[in-house]
Amino acid sequence: MHSDVTVSPRSNRPSSTSIPEQPDDSYPAVGASIHRLPPGRSRKSLRTTDSPINYFIQTALANPGLISLAAGLVDEESLPCQAVAAACVAVLRDKERGQTALQYGSTQGLPRLRQLVLDLICQADGCNPQQLGCSADDVVITTGSQQLLYLLAEVLLDPGDIVITEAPSYFVFHSVLQSHGVEVVGIPMDAEGMNLEALSESLQRLERHGQLERVKLIYTVDYFQNPTGWTLSEKRRPRLLELVQRFSRRQRILIVEDAAYRELRYDGNDLRSIKSWDQTNSWVVYAGTFSKPCAPGLKTGFALVPPDIREPLLHVKGNHDFGSAHLMQHVVAELITAGAYAHQIQTLRGVYQHKRDLLLAELERAFGEYPNVWWSRPAGGLYVWLTLEGVDTGPQGTFAAAALAEGVLYVPGEFAYVVPQGHRPPHHSCRLSFGLARPEQLRQGVQRLHRAFQRTISR
Ligand SMILES: Cc1ncc(COP(=O)(O)O)c(C=O)c1O
Repeated sequence: MHSDVTVSPRSNRPSSTSIPEQPDDSYPAVGASIHRLPPGRSRKSLRTTDSPINYFIQTALANPGLISLAAGLVDEESLPCQAVAAACVAVLRDKERGQTALQYGSTQGLPRLRQLVLDLICQADGCNPQQLGCSADDVVITTGSQQLLYLLAEVLLDPGDIVITEAPSYFVFHSVLQSHGVEVVGIPMDAEGMNLEALSESLQRLERHGQLERVKLIYTVDYFQNPTGWTLSEKRRPRLLELVQRFSRRQRILIVEDAAYRELRYDGNDLRSIKSWDQTNSWVVYAGTFSKPCAPGLKTGFALVPPDIREPLLHVKGNHDFGSAHLMQHVVAELITAGAYAHQIQTLRGVYQHKRDLLLAELERAFGEYPNVWWSRPAGGLYVWLTLEGVDTGPQGTFAAAALAEGVLYVPGEFAYVVPQGHRPPHHSCRLSFGLARPEQLRQGVQRLHRAFQRTISR
């Protein structure tokens, strides 16, 4: 028979009453500090450490008046409150529809939203679902794309496996990999994304050392990468897939294409996804999100997944939550069908293009004369990667302290690298975000960074 209270064999007292206030010799003599015994934590929990994000939150809270170019948050003024309110009303006004939305949904996600997601991807890639080898059955709705990344790690990775990422890369995913005990191999980047010559050399080296079997996946943020803002070029996309196919010997090496920023393009035409070259739906997991192109508070993401990964992924997701928030999925589907989602993307493109241009112009004004200072010029997304050669931008360095004293916060570039123990990651760059900061703050933020830079180099 199931009972919520367990019974101590010696005393017949429920053990959930914890330690008695008065000595009671019917309890084992374990001493007064039994409550200080360490809990038996799992290995995974012991490997899981505080995210670097908390450093920024703490610092921002401790320093009011600070301009944060560090936060990965989105523009607040343009968040679509009216459109989301209208979508909620549309979903809930009709009793039957509202009751369905407020009921549990399925683990895989709302079929209508899965179809809409597939249509959006096909529209962006200029193809039909057959050409992608996919149907709505291959789409999974997740609680943000972050959940998808975590679930994939659960499904694919054991301690000692290798995951290849761009170097630098999205540091929150690094934390997931660390908690799974995975070794990260970083491949250098340039303005065209991951350097595929370097990737090929790394794969060859791993093969020579009999380590290729450990490589499970290659993770790329291929549109306006977090943190550099760089995009994988058109010609590298099919080549990346070819490389992965060439080096898949006994098991398929998967590509995780994290397209979190794809919709936020301000210059040029969209590029076909790597997924669009994977016409058998075997090699690429395509991860997207409504967080950046619509609103992070919706916390709704999606993935196109090869069928033999989908089933195990759904089993794990079933254990996590047996389905992302059903109401949110209905709201997002309504935003798409009502045209509000497309409208929001257009609005954001205007807003962020303006902010990106402003940030780049301010950087030019402040740092243009220094030959050893350079920065990325992203065609979309939310980030600029600023490199100050010869300056230590790490959190303990003099530049970080000077920036804090001037009242500006950035993400130290070294957070975005994983290096072998005992090595120091590259530490001359800063990730600057133009997502949250208002135009005036961007202007002042760069001026403050410049003053911090002058103070640092004058020492
Ligand atoms: C590259 C990248 N992937 C995934 C995510 C996760 O976003 P969400 O879980 O809100 O969809 C983020 C968030 O900043 C990101 O930058």
